[in-house]
Amino acid sequence: ADKVRESFIEFFRDGNGHTFWPSSPCVPHDDPTLLFANAGMNQYKPLFLGQCDPALAMAKLKRATNSQKCIRAGGKKCDLDDVGKDVYHHTYFEMLGNWSFGDYFKEGAIKMTWECLTVKFGLDPERLYITYFGGDEVKAPGVPADEETRQIWLKYVPPERLLPFDAADNFWEMGDVGPCGPCTEIHYDRIGGRDAAALVNMDDPDVLEIWNNVFIQYNREPGGLKELPAQHVDTGMGFERLAMAMQGKQSNYDTDVFQPLLDRVATLSGKTYGRADSKPDVAFRVISDHIRAVAFSIADGQLPSNTGAGYVIRRILRRAIRYGYSFLDLNEPFMHALVPSLAGQMGDAFPELKAQQQLIERVILEEEESFLHTLANGIERLEARLNEFKSTKVLPGDVVF
Ligand code: ALA
Repeated sequence: ADKVRESFIEFFRDGNGHTFWPSSPCVPHDDPTLLFANAGMNQYKPLFLGQCDPALAMAKLKRATNSQKCIRAGGKKCDLDDVGKDVYHHTYFEMLGNWSFGDYFKEGAIKMTWECLTVKFGLDPERLYITYFGGDEVKAPGVPADEETRQIWLKYVPPERLLPFDAADNFWEMGDVGPCGPCTEIHYDRIGGRDAAALVNMDDPDVLEIWNNVFIQYNREPGGLKELPAQHVDTGMGFERLAMAMQGKQSNYDTDVFQPLLDRVATLSGKTYGRADSKPDVAFRVISDHIRAVAFSIADGQLPSNTGAGYVIRRILRRAIRYGYSFLDLNEPFMHALVPSLAGQMGDAFPELKAQQQLIERVILEEEESFLHTLANGIERLEARLNEFKSTKVLPGDVVF
């Protein structure tokens, strides 16, 4: 996985003139419209809007690349309920990105995307499907169907693998307000040797979006879309999904991004991952996903708390504890014991994990102790009440309240 990350950055930095610009914290300190960094483009918002302070180093960027730490567990982009149940959504993930600030546009972006996937990474071109914006007068009035993008893609893929969708899939927005535009996505068929066009955007675990190219031309304002003074490119590729494709695995969790964490959960619980019974497997995935979101947000300065982003982090941590408690018989604190594995595995790419390791472990342990106590008491009380109302099979509202 480290090689996947490095190769991506190498392609854009060394091969295509992009500046490596480090990931911003996964908890933004300067954007009240966001709870968490939900995409690589967040930190460049002032550049897209033409509002960047010219004295800042960022103002000089024409092309940038990095792997951004993202959390999609609260706010507009929220994947929390799916995490662990499927094998390709995460609360915390890395988004590999390249950006153009008023520099190259559709032609250049699509060429680089194609070369990166099929030459640099050597993915089979026949397994790639492309979606583009087909128009949407309700959600993106006045924005034409993106025929230009379709024409560019025809240089690389046959028409039957080029599919139009409406704004829900192909008009990307970071939130209720902010820079946005029509996008074109690359979907990867894990199986290959077949026509998978009908499975694109159908939540099929074998046909997944891996990369999105957004052509930023608008700002979403409370009153509607407003054209921006310049045209930009914002891309985002799911690092864990690319690792899965490159490693020929069935799921993101089968890659070396998650294997060390799953192994550690196995040791701590005395259970094995990959059994037929699904609940414990979901618990394994929930735990190894959630520890990343919790650890990275603490490293970036967001502790669990009662409000805002801190409350989301507390809920993520509690969801993991609850899954461990209910399905892996983990009734002593265990989440903090995953931190050394995570720091060992990712501390080179993200040194803040190692630098903050002690704090992360301590905060998680305290949360675990307090929540396990609440959980044990709560479950006992609930069970007593459920027994009391067994015959009617209805738990009265006032009791629940
Ligand atoms: N910002 C775009 C996304 O998150 C690339 O999909």
